[in-house]
Amino acid sequence: MGFDQYHEPANELPPETHIFARMMASLTEEAEAISWYEQRLAMEPNQEARAIMANAQGEEFKHFGMDLEFLVRQKPKWRIALQDILFKKGDIVAHGEEAEEDEQQEGGEKHVET
Ligand SMILES: [Fe+2]
Repeated sequence: MGFDQYHEPANELPPETHIFARMMASLTEEAEAISWYEQRLAMEPNQEARAIMANAQGEEFKHFGMDLEFLVRQKPKWRIALQDILFKKGDIVAHGEEAEEDEQQEGGEKHVET
């Protein structure tokens, strides 16, 4: 992603928006790394090499999770959406619709952790 994450003049953006943009870039890079390891694991016949790659992919899961947690701490509505969608059984689309409704509610206090 590099420096092209900016869609507004970078020198006019507040510092917190720069931090947010950098963390979004990191999140994207971690997601790409997870996919790259997934592809390598699908192709690699050597068991020891596969074990190392699987270990590395696990690190990328952790990195992705930390980046995501940092970002949702900046955006309460994002947290509300994820709380309605993630780690639940059932219809993902239905959970997404619920998330959209909860985001629209003023405050959404019932889902916000403090
Ligand atoms: Fe990483």
